[in-house]
Amino acid sequence: MKVLLTGATGYIGSAVTDHLVAAGHQVLALTRGTDPQHGRAWHGQLVGDTADPVSLAGAVTPEIEAVIHLAPPSGDADIDTAVVEALVTPLRGTGRPFVYTSGVWVLGATGEAQEVAEEAPTHPIGIVGYRPRIEERVLAEVTEGVRAVVVRPGIVYGRGGGIPAILVDRARRQGVPEYYGEEGVRWPTVHVDDLAELFVAAVERAEAGTIWHGVGDSAVPVRDLARAAGRAAGVLAAPQAVPVEQAAEVFGPLFAEALALDQSVSGAAARGALGWQPGRPGVVAELAFGSYRPVEVFGAPEGPETDAEVASIRSLVADVEQAQQNELVDRFLSVFRPEDPVWTTGHGKRLSGFEEIATFTRKVLPGATAESTAVYDVERVLFLRPDVAAVNVRQQPVRHDGTRIADRPEGRPFYILVKDDGTWRIGAAQNTVAVD
Ligand SMILES: NC(=O)c1ccc[n+]([C@@H]2O[C@H](COP(=O)([O-])OP(=O)(O)OC[C@H]3O[C@@H](n4cnc5c(N)ncnc54)[C@H](OP(=O)(O)O)[C@@H]3O)[C@@H](O)[C@H]2O)c1
Repeated sequence: MKVLLTGATGYIGSAVTDHLVAAGHQVLALTRGTDPQHGRAWHGQLVGDTADPVSLAGAVTPEIEAVIHLAPPSGDADIDTAVVEALVTPLRGTGRPFVYTSGVWVLGATGEAQEVAEEAPTHPIGIVGYRPRIEERVLAEVTEGVRAVVVRPGIVYGRGGGIPAILVDRARRQGVPEYYGEEGVRWPTVHVDDLAELFVAAVERAEAGTIWHGVGDSAVPVRDLARAAGRAAGVLAAPQAVPVEQAAEVFGPLFAEALALDQSVSGAAARGALGWQPGRPGVVAELAFGSYRPVEVFGAPEGPETDAEVASIRSLVADVEQAQQNELVDRFLSVFRPEDPVWTTGHGKRLSGFEEIATFTRKVLPGATAESTAVYDVERVLFLRPDVAAVNVRQQPVRHDGTRIADRPEGRPFYILVKDDGTWRIGAAQNTVAVD
């Protein structure tokens, strides 16, 4: 399909572009800037401003087979209605899809209710006050022969961006991770690449007049998310609750209210009816081990293939951490190659061969974390060959609540990893205590 996409340069729009193209569609990007954007996977680019609906006349030509409207609201209901009308009118009588992007904030606080579904009544908070009316306006186009569909994303994360990046930035600046409002606040979340796949599914096969929640995890405790954001920022301190009034001074009252909103929202309908399979790591894992944490990479070309290898390496190091923290002997051993691995401990004890490592691990790991544990962060990856990597890790001692033990030195594990049969494992490892 030839798909006209508004908001194509944005956070979600960039991922939607990638997944539409991967699914064989052509993206015509509507941008407000006139400069051609090189390096995008777009088929074409046309100029229009959603703050000026008149500029959109003629954007949807007869060759456009679908429209995805991702550009954010203007703040003026009349303007946004006029934008929808300008984009949707040329589709009338064609049965072609028009996908409007709303958001779960239109549901308001879900309170005690668990996993609110699409049929629930809307109770929009201030920042999205008139958005349900735009949703209704869009869905009314069904009677005009348009396959009108609404997608409501949860809080979007991944690719190092979105609202979680704001939490990482705040933690870095303040020296303490923050969350807003009450301690029990929960956010429905979705990985940006999973969400982009939902947009593709919606364009390809959502029925006319339907609403879909783009939600991977229905209710993530924001306190956990804040702790992970702190970790991404290198700040291992207990998360601090910031009252909404105080948050309003930083973010403005409308956004502060949204950040403090407690919601539990179901994304089950899209899984069932559209076959959507959101399977990427959850937001806490993504913050702690994924795209929010810069890694220096050497010896491999920039690009998605290298990114995928680095993600696999981070996942292996996350396994080391999980196994250590939970004293899982077999899981710890599974990170080593069976062929002649060598591990020199932080105290200089060299363990040679799998059996020696296994015997030592069985002896020392059970009970090792009774008082404290450690977090492991990949800092540098040098690809010596496509299937051999030298990896520098930072190991920090923490209490069981994840806060840093200040008077205990860090470790500097160094791993030589080998990729055998598609799986990275440790071929050789050395830990060193950092004394300065
Ligand atoms: N991020 C989330 O967690 C989340 C959650 C729920 C719903 N949503 C909704 O999803 C949509 C996209 O969000 P996002 O996070 O991808 O936002 P974003 O990163 O800020 O991107 C916004 C996009 O819209 C374009 N745009 C802004 N004003 C425009 C205008 N006047 N005319 C034409 N294009 C304009 C921007 O283009 P420029 O390059 O010119 O700036 C950019 O491409 C929004 O409607 C948002 O409310 C987002």
